[in-house]
Amino acid sequence: DWTPEHVLENLLKEVRERVGSERVLLAVSGGVDSSTLALLLARAGVDHLAVFVDHGLLRLGEREEVEGALRALGVNLLVVEAKDHFLKALKGVEDPEAKRQVIGRAFVEVFSQVARERGPFHFLAQGTLYPDVIESAGGHGAAKIKSHHNVGGLPEDLAFELLEPFRLLFKDEVRELALLLGLPDTIRLRHPFPGPGLAVRILGEVTEEGLAVLRKADDIFINLLKEWGLYEKVAQALAVLTPLRSVGVAGDERRYGHVLALRAVTTEDFMTADWARLPLEFLDEAARRITRRVPEIGRVVYDITSKPPATIEWE
Ligand code: XMP
Repeated sequence: DWTPEHVLENLLKEVRERVGSERVLLAVSGGVDSSTLALLLARAGVDHLAVFVDHGLLRLGEREEVEGALRALGVNLLVVEAKDHFLKALKGVEDPEAKRQVIGRAFVEVFSQVARERGPFHFLAQGTLYPDVIESAGGHGAAKIKSHHNVGGLPEDLAFELLEPFRLLFKDEVRELALLLGLPDTIRLRHPFPGPGLAVRILGEVTEEGLAVLRKADDIFINLLKEWGLYEKVAQALAVLTPLRSVGVAGDERRYGHVLALRAVTTEDFMTADWARLPLEFLDEAARRITRRVPEIGRVVYDITSKPPATIEWE
């Protein structure tokens, strides 16, 4: 029968047989798929190197959390500090699609360098899921709306054989495997987070100051959802820092602060989504906490647009 234990046994066997004594390279993002893949390779006992590129666009404490969890579970992890590289490449870039291109390119540069320095590797492992396989085969016929950032487009001198152990699995099956492999719930049950990270949640140019502000606000919002038991009731929640500024009062002074948008959605497949009907008392508390603790933010709004017509992310 198809128990998760069974699936895991089969995957371990498949990976061991296919990889043998070859070396495997993989990129981990901190998401559940790539983290579980790294754990699978570690459990299989194959020679692997998991590369975590810290592009400086991560949420508060994310890198430390992933680093700690994966190392503790036997993953051979290399964390590459690449914040300066990415921020420099993003300087002056305001267009959403241009940002994605710049980040994709910077990622390939950093990752290729590691592959060359630490190589050679025979395999490149990717956490591709069944829905991705269908989508890229054109099964849904959905037009590509945004360029998704993955380990595609590597230079020609870096040729790998692809290893995609999850290609027949759905997300919940990967979450079950993650549980068996010991991935902490904070990572296992985490909402999806886009490859380009907070860069697509800061409208306009991405700066270190903007990132610091958004990171604080996002952390307050997400923790409050957890406190209220709402985090697992929504499929994804996020905060967007806009370049809009509005007037407010602080004591008897006028303050000119940024407008921050909060968004939470419910969805099955992320292709369509409904805005989450969060309790008004919750939203009230979120706005108060954020404006109290993040002085750069003067006003908080809640996004009540579904997908379509809006996408989940703002960029
Ligand atoms: P949208 O905004 O298109 O997002 O409704 C649908 C889902 O995809 C995530 N997303 C991305 N994930 N790289 C990713 O790995 C990306 O470039 C990217 N853009 C959007 C988004 O967070 C949502 O879960």
